[in-house]
Amino acid sequence: MEIDLDRYRAESRERWGEAAPGWEERHDWLMESTRRVNDWLTEAVDPRPGQTVLEIAAGTGGLGFEIAERVGANGRVISADFAPEMVEVARRLGDRRGLANVEYRVMDAERMDLGDDSIDAAVCRFAYMAMADPAAALRETRRVLRSGGPLAFAVWRTSDRNPWAAIPGMTLVQRGHMSPPEPGAPGIFAMAEPGRIRELVTRAGFGEPEIEEIAFEFRYADADDLWDSIVRLSSRLARVVMALPDDEREATRAAILENFAPYRDEDGSYSTPAATWAVVAR
Ligand SMILES: C[S@@+](CC[C@H](N)C(=O)[O-])C[C@H]1O[C@@H](n2cnc3c(N)ncnc32)[C@H](O)[C@@H]1O
Repeated sequence: MEIDLDRYRAESRERWGEAAPGWEERHDWLMESTRRVNDWLTEAVDPRPGQTVLEIAAGTGGLGFEIAERVGANGRVISADFAPEMVEVARRLGDRRGLANVEYRVMDAERMDLGDDSIDAAVCRFAYMAMADPAAALRETRRVLRSGGPLAFAVWRTSDRNPWAAIPGMTLVQRGHMSPPEPGAPGIFAMAEPGRIRELVTRAGFGEPEIEEIAFEFRYADADDLWDSIVRLSSRLARVVMALPDDEREATRAAILENFAPYRDEDGSYSTPAATWAVVAR
């Protein structure tokens, strides 16, 4: 079944807007958990004082904030996302951090309001695979980057390497509350194959990408913390869960937590494996 990409775009923007408060609350946890990804992407683009760096689909903006500290007062980070609610969160967190060299923009990665060759380097975490047309977004990225300017991005590996993301959706499908994902449709695992990454990146006009795995863990203090992360970070899952009758919602929560049992530690906390591809191309 073909998906309607215009409808997907509109729904996706709305869902990310709904999720913005949860992402704001969990910002520090998320940045701490994914520290190695930020370090890798930052080193890959090697930001220099005075440069202009674009963070695409920046969400709450954390990676761009670290880069803003590297490009200094004469440099600039453009922190862009298509969900205005996310951009507001990024602005608030950046202001709190005292950053004066970050420009916050509501901007769709598939149609960037930026000139050709106007950017020195671009970064993007966990977003190209969820876009309606990642090929268009990568072509736009190539267009706005100066010749030879690097793009570094991260996308998730396959579901078996990311149980934190796979288990909730799989449990909802098993209980008949969601349909399984359409093959080839945008989604969290849509760029999990290196061959697909290479194809998209080179067809957008970049040279051969370097692709490296980064494996880490998400840690949750207890079952409530794990549940909070599931329903606060994904409004798609939250909408499905909240629409269930009370008893089925409770049963679904119990079933999801049961499926996380292999990752529960003796003290009641959880540690779930996570694995991304980190990619750099010029
Ligand atoms: C999984 S979140 C990642 C946020 C942030 N990059 C991070 O790693 O914390 C995906 C983000 O991509 C944004 N996004 C999705 N499609 C987009 C598009 N076409 N243009 C711009 N932003 C988009 C969403 O609004 C959301 O903030």
